[in-house]
Order: sequence, then structure tokens, then C-alpha cells
Amino acid sequence: MHNHVLVESDPSTIIDLSSVGVHSALLNHSRLEELESTMTEWVNSPIFYECHDRKLAFKLLTISLAHTYIFGRFTLTSYAAQIYLSLRQLNPLDDQLGEILKINSSVFQGELFTNNVYNKPGDCHAHYYDMKMAYEKVAGDINAIKLFEHNAIEYGVNHAFSSSSLWNENMTVYANYVEEITNHALPVFLVVLISEKAIWEGYNIILDQLNEHESFDLFRVFMRRHIELDNDEHGPSTVLWFNYYLDKLKPSQRELDRAMDVAIQFIKLRIKTYRY
Ligand SMILES: [Fe+2]
Repeated sequence: MHNHVLVESDPSTIIDLSSVGVHSALLNHSRLEELESTMTEWVNSPIFYECHDRKLAFKLLTISLAHTYIFGRFTLTSYAAQIYLSLRQLNPLDDQLGEILKINSSVFQGELFTNNVYNKPGDCHAHYYDMKMAYEKVAGDINAIKLFEHNAIEYGVNHAFSSSSLWNENMTVYANYVEEITNHALPVFLVVLISEKAIWEGYNIILDQLNEHESFDLFRVFMRRHIELDNDEHGPSTVLWFNYYLDKLKPSQRELDRAMDVAIQFIKLRIKTYRY
């Protein structure tokens, strides 16, 4: 394992959460700087700057395939579920909340049951399958993916990741952590908010560096589409819900501290999955 640490002494992208209009309770939190600096480390992961190398480009695509699986199976499904469960604590939806749910429903749809990446008529699936198509185009090991998908249902993600030759132990640890933390409302709301910001910032850097071979073209399309979707629509929608949740359901300082702790640990484990 190549224990690459952040060498970008001058990261090209620095995360500033005040730029996305997030709630003052988060902006005034004692660990905000730590959250922003770990997000900055994430979006400037060394492999993002080294993927002009064809082998590393393939490695990065393989890693991204696992991330989209975990995001589609656990993170986004739980985000939707935890939002609907939270509504049980409120009066039926008024116009303000109705609007917030409407645009967040298009986040659920735009990530989980859609054709908004390759615009193929009749497609209605999670982005994982679009990333899988990009993986197939670079002659990825589709049999290993089929075995992974089978094991992931039959035996669970821990076994599926740990027994797969496609990913290392860091990915198994990350997958298990995400499966666990997404069972909790405020942690999953914060994790989705930071993901919908960091993922497209990272894609910007990868697109600048990615190996130019045409076999990576679907991966390029996938990333460009996400920059549009996450920056313009999904990101702002998740901030609206997060701010509304903090204002109306008033989670305790202890709950916010826990969510912050979970979000920072989530990023640290994610960063490790990019090490090769
Ligand atoms: Fe997506």
C-alpha cells in the first residue's frame, strides 16, 4: 500500500462552507475549520492529480465505482428515509416545507431512479449503473463486479467488499462505516450535504488531469454531469433541508457535535480509500 499523504501544499481547491449558505449553528461550530480542512484534503486527494497516468486513472474509476454503489445503496436511500421519518415530528407539510421536499425529491430521483447522466430513453436507475457502464468501457472486470453484486445481497457489504479483488481493506472499512452512520438522521443529512459539495469539486480536478484515452469518455461524461447536477441543484437542495431541520427540529448541541464527529470521520475514511 502506497501511503500517500496530502502533498498538495497549495491545494487548488479550498472548501469554504459559508459559500453554500449553511446554517450558522454549523458555521459557528468549534470543529468547522477541521471539517473544512478535511474536506479540502478530500477534494485534493493526490490520485486526482496523478490520474493522467492510465493505470491510476483506471484505479480511480474502480474506486469511484465502489463509492457510487455505497452512495446509491445506503447514503441517498437513508437520506430520503430519514427526511420522511423526520416529518413525523412536524405538522403536515406547509408551503415552505412542501417546496423543500419537492426539490429534495428531485435529488432522490436525480440520484436513484433516473437517466440524467447519459439521457438514454427508458433508463431509470441509480448512478451506480452509469459508473458501471464507464467501468465496462475501460475493460473493467465485469465478472468481478457481478460476483460483488451477488455477494453484496447474499452475504452483505462487509463480505462483498472484503472478498473482492477490486478494492482494498480501506474500502471495506469505509463501506461498513457508511452503512452504520446512515441509520441516523442528522449525521446522514450532514454527510450528504458535504458529499454534494466535495464530490463535484473533486471531479473538477480529475477532469483536468484524467488520462485522455477515449475509453475514459463515459467517466468524463459522468463527472461533467455531476458537476452540473450537484453544484446547481442537489447541493443547494441538501443545504435547504439541513437548515430547515436545524431551525424547526432544533437538534441538541450534543446531536450536532456527534454529527460533526461522524462527518469528519466519514471524510477521513473516504480519503483512505483513494490511497493506492
Ligand atoms: Fe450521483
